[in-house]
Amino acid sequence: MTMFNMIKKIGALLCLMSVCVFAQADDYRLNPSKVKGPDACGECHEDSVSAWKLSHHATSFKSMPRSEGAREIADKMGIKRIKSESDCLTCHFTASDSEGSAKPIAGISCESCHGAGVDWIDVHSDFGGKDVKAEDEDPAHKVKRYADSEAAGMIRPSNTYEVAENCFGCHTVPNENLVNTGGHVAGSNFELVRWTQGEVRHNIWYTEDNNEASVERRRMLYVVGKLLDLEYALRGVSKATVKAEYALSMAKRAKKATAFVKKISTLIDAAELAEVLGIVGTVKLKLNNEAALLEAADSISAVSSSFASNYDGSTFAGVDELLATPDKYKGDVFSK
Ligand code: HEC
Ligand code: HEC
Ligand code: HEC
Ligand code: HEC
Repeated sequence: MTMFNMIKKIGALLCLMSVCVFAQADDYRLNPSKVKGPDACGECHEDSVSAWKLSHHATSFKSMPRSEGAREIADKMGIKRIKSESDCLTCHFTASDSEGSAKPIAGISCESCHGAGVDWIDVHSDFGGKDVKAEDEDPAHKVKRYADSEAAGMIRPSNTYEVAENCFGCHTVPNENLVNTGGHVAGSNFELVRWTQGEVRHNIWYTEDNNEASVERRRMLYVVGKLLDLEYALRGVSKATVKAEYALSMAKRAKKATAFVKKISTLIDAAELAEVLGIVGTVKLKLNNEAALLEAADSISAVSSSFASNYDGSTFAGVDELLATPDKYKGDVFSK
C-alpha cells in the first residue's frame, strides 16, 4: 500500500466518522488540515526555500493559472476557477485549511515531497529539549525522534522509495479525463537522476555547496526511479477505460519501464529485479483491468521499497553507463 493511498483511505474513514472537514479531502494528495506551508519550513530551512523558490514547482503557483495552455485545458474540462478546482489543485498547488475549505497557498512545496508537516514539524527538530544541540543529542533520543517523525508522516530523504514515490504520483499524470478530454500532457519524460539533480536539488542543509548526490546515491535514485515508473504506469493503466491517448501512453510507459528494468537486471546483481519482472509478466496491460493491475502494482511497491532499503548503491557500478551527465540535468542548479 502506498502512502498516498493510505492517506486517501484514512481521509475517507475520517469522513465516515463525520469529522469530515473537507467535502473532498479525499481529492487532495495532502490533507489540507495537516499542511503548514513552506514559510513555516523556511524559519529554519532558509536555503532550501531559496532554492525551491526558483524552481517550476514554486513558480507554477502564479504562472500556470495565467498560461494559455491552462485556460485551454480548463475550458475543455468545463473548469472556471483553476486554483479552486481539486482536479488541478492536487498536482499544481499546495492547499491548506482555511475555515473549513482548502485554500491554495503555494505551488508544489516542501510538504508535497516530505509529507504534510503539522504533526511532525516540532518533533523532527527537537534534540531533547530547548537547550539541547544536535551534537549533544542522546543516541536513543535520536532513534526515537526519527521514528516518531516518520510515524507522524514525515518522509525523510533517506527513504528513497517514499520520497521519490511522490514525484511519480504527479508526473505520470494518472487522470484519464484530464488527458483525454482536457488535452493535458500525458505524463513527463521523467527520470529520477536527471529530474532531481537540476533545479530541484537542495543538498544544502548537511553540507553547504548544494553538491550533486554521490554516485552511489545516483545509482540508487536511477534504479528506484525506474521501478517506481513501472509501478505508477501500472497504476495509471489500471484507471484506463477507453482506448484513447491516456490508455495508449500509459501502456507505452509501462512497456518502456519494463524494458529498462530488464536491462538493469543484466547490469547489476539484485534478486529483487527478477522478482519485479516476474510480477509484470503475470498481468495484462488492457482496459478495465483495475484489480489485477493494482495488485501487481502493490506487489511491485513492496519489492521496490525493500530494494531501496536493502542496498546503498556501492555494488551497482553496472548502471553508471545509464546515469545522466550533469549537462542533462533538468533546470538550473541553485547556488548560494
Ligand atoms: C524549528 C526549526 C525547523 C523547522 C521549522 C523545520 N525544520 Fe526541518 N530540520 C530542522 C533540524 C534541526 C533538522 C536536522 C535534524 C537532524 O539532524 O536529524 C531538520 C531536518 C530536516 C530534514 C532532513 C531530515 C533527515 O532525515 O535527515 C528534512 C527533510 C526537513 N527537515 C524538512 C522540513 C520541512 C519540510 C519543514 C516544514 C514543514 C521543516 N523541516 C521545518 C529544523 C527545522
Ligand atoms: C495528476 C497530476 C496533474 C493534474 C491533476 C494536473 N496537472 Fe497539469 N501538469 C502536471 C505535470 C506533472 C506537469 C508537468 C509536465 C512536464 O513538464 O513534464 C503539468 C503541466 C501542466 C501545464 C504546462 C506547464 C505550465 O505550467 O504551463 C499546464 C498548462 C497544466 N499542467 C495545466 C493543468 C490544469 C489546468 C489542470 C486542471 C484542469 C492540471 N494541469 C491538472 C500534473 C498535473
Ligand atoms: C520535489 C520534491 C521535493 C520538494 C518540493 C522539496 N524537497 Fe527536500 N528533498 C527532496 C529529496 C528527493 C531529497 C533527497 C535528495 C538526495 O538525498 O539526493 C530532499 C532533501 C531535503 C533535505 C536534506 C538536505 C541535505 O542537505 O541533505 C532537507 C533539509 C529538505 N529536503 C528540506 C526541504 C524543504 C524545507 C523544502 C521546501 C522549501 C523541500 N525540502 C522541498 C525532495 C523535495
Ligand atoms: C504534487 C505534484 C508533484 C510532485 C510531488 C512532484 N512534482 Fe515535479 N512538477 C509538478 C508539476 C505540476 C510541474 C509543472 C510545473 C509548471 O511548469 O507549471 C512540475 C515540474 C517539475 C520540474 C520542471 C520541469 C520542466 O519542464 O522544467 C522538475 C525538474 C520536477 N518537476 C521534478 C520533480 C521531482 C524530482 C519530484 C520528486 C522528488 C517531483 N517533481 C515531484 C508536480 C509535481
